[in-house]
Amino acid sequence: MNPHVFPIPTDLASKAHVDARGYEEMYRRSIDDPEGFWREQAQILDWSRPFTQVKNTRYSPEDVTIEWFADGRLNASYNCLDRHAAQKGSEPAILWAGDTPGDQRRVTWSDLRQEVSRLANTLTKLGVKKGDFVSVYLPVIPEAIAAMLACARIGAVHSVVFSGFSAEALAGRIKDCRSRVLITADEGLRAGKYVPLKKNADAALESLPFVEHVLVVRRTSRDVPMNPERDLWYDGALAQAPADCPPVEVGAEDPLFVLYTSGSTGKPKGMLHTTGGYLVHAAASFRAMFDYHPGDIHFCTADVGWVTAHTYLIYGPLANGATVVLFEGVPTWPDASRWWQIIEAYRVNIFYTAPTAIRSLMREGEAPVRKHDLSSLRVLGSVGEPINPEAWLWYHEVVGGGRCPITDTYWQTETGAVLLCPLPGAMALKPGSAAKPFFGVRPALLNSDGSAVEGEGAGNLCFADSWPGQARTILGDRERFLKTYFSTFPGYYFTGDGARRDADGYYWITGRLDDVINVSGHRLGTVEIEAALASHSSVAEAAVVGFPHEIKGQGIFAFVTLKEGITESDELRRELLQLVRTRIGPIAMPDRIEWAPQLPKNRSGKILRRILTRIAAGDFESHGDTSTVADLSVVEDIVRRFQKQN
Ligand code: WT7
Repeated sequence: MNPHVFPIPTDLASKAHVDARGYEEMYRRSIDDPEGFWREQAQILDWSRPFTQVKNTRYSPEDVTIEWFADGRLNASYNCLDRHAAQKGSEPAILWAGDTPGDQRRVTWSDLRQEVSRLANTLTKLGVKKGDFVSVYLPVIPEAIAAMLACARIGAVHSVVFSGFSAEALAGRIKDCRSRVLITADEGLRAGKYVPLKKNADAALESLPFVEHVLVVRRTSRDVPMNPERDLWYDGALAQAPADCPPVEVGAEDPLFVLYTSGSTGKPKGMLHTTGGYLVHAAASFRAMFDYHPGDIHFCTADVGWVTAHTYLIYGPLANGATVVLFEGVPTWPDASRWWQIIEAYRVNIFYTAPTAIRSLMREGEAPVRKHDLSSLRVLGSVGEPINPEAWLWYHEVVGGGRCPITDTYWQTETGAVLLCPLPGAMALKPGSAAKPFFGVRPALLNSDGSAVEGEGAGNLCFADSWPGQARTILGDRERFLKTYFSTFPGYYFTGDGARRDADGYYWITGRLDDVINVSGHRLGTVEIEAALASHSSVAEAAVVGFPHEIKGQGIFAFVTLKEGITESDELRRELLQLVRTRIGPIAMPDRIEWAPQLPKNRSGKILRRILTRIAAGDFESHGDTSTVADLSVVEDIVRRFQKQN
């Protein structure tokens, strides 16, 4: 147990939306009367037709139903734009900092509304209608936000694909939702390097003849091939489009976006989020968990390709009328003070990032932080993976000057918005703990037999009832949705994570229990990486596991068995790395590839990753329960090879 407990800062608590007593009362109420509670919370949005039903949710084995505010109608882009543009049109909505220091843009609420309207009209002209999918493959530039809101404006469903994914990964994600329009850029720019987005898009579209139009944003303005039949410059198209576009009213349960995430089988899952519940949960939780007050400048470092950016860089903040800092580059380029310089320049009040970045910046020492004035910061946030106490303490002390609470927010692509987190004015902090449930959320720790752990203890982290931001299904695969989340523990949503609850009722996430690993806050399916490796003609089979990594949290360890007669070589290692890079993207490249003559399996031929995980962590002694291993000499063989090397 960690001895440090950080008390609630009293000055912050006195002005906070929720203080300690407030949390207890509101949480109780949200559980005793979820309908009344969420009806009130939903007033954070403007509804074009008010809802009469709040909640229709069930997790019973025969019937999983998730519906929130079902008969209400609204438009997400109206809520994120028009109502703020009407009040403060000339104030900034987006403060954009480009990859190159000094390259910056200030986008006002009026500018953004106009851009979104022109783009929405352009999409309509290209034949996009309510319910159609539009894929977005863009760097972190204001056009990415415009693209998402333009879809929302006409009731189209966006699918943002992280611009670090390869052509092949992009193709898979376009194919799955069958978008006929793609919005991309000529190139991206990251740490001074060009990212060939249009080239990747062209390669992806070779196998996807149903994509009719590609809108291309000029980011670097360098030469890229354009197909006159299919491709259109974004700026040219928008210049011709009317600057006004009335928002299309949609039902609360109409889809807003799909976002792909990795699971424990090979194919990424398209998590489908709907409009009303998602936006209520995003907006209300943004306000509470960062204790947002009007005028605050919010800086979330996530890439637009991840759910963190969807909810807490775009929808949550913009629905609240918050000014957001949007940063295209990386924290260590041109040097390790880039974020701190941005925080100083924009007088950022709320800063939200991932532990992996904190760990890598810690290595650079305090000097790059100390040379900037970070006194504007009030609240810090962490997301994506467990934060180790050392990184927490450094973040708190060096970045937050010892005065800013850190809200460690636990949630998932599937959950849409936060489920566990401390509220800055309401809870004392324990470094490494995601503290307590958000309003309306009912965590449960279950033993493998399904019985509940009461009080202190550890178990499978589940949730006993729905919350508004929850994904409604996996696009095109409801069976998989039910099986993945609702079949392991009937009556509960199962997160795939393990957690511990301490004597004060604080939750501590212990990590994934399935074949998913968390690398630098990016979620990857080990099976996906294995499939990429096994597609090499020299590979017989591969097993991928995570191992503790100082910076990334988890690193990727691949055990590869070669086909008969193939010689092990570093050249082959390089080929395999390259293969993973083209099939998935750089983020999925293994940190280590080791040759294994055979892989440990059980008697029915399933690879025992559990044992490999221990070996990868450098634990050669205890393999855990080996009673299921078909041939123990396989394990001994791998260990012998390892001990020779290490
Ligand atoms: C997985 C979800 C939530 C947006 C970013 C990641 C891990 C997430 C925390 C946290 C410990 C965390 C879990 C979860 N995770 N936040 N605060 N403490 N672990 O979204 O890619 O869907 O990944 O990230 O393992 O299941 P994602």
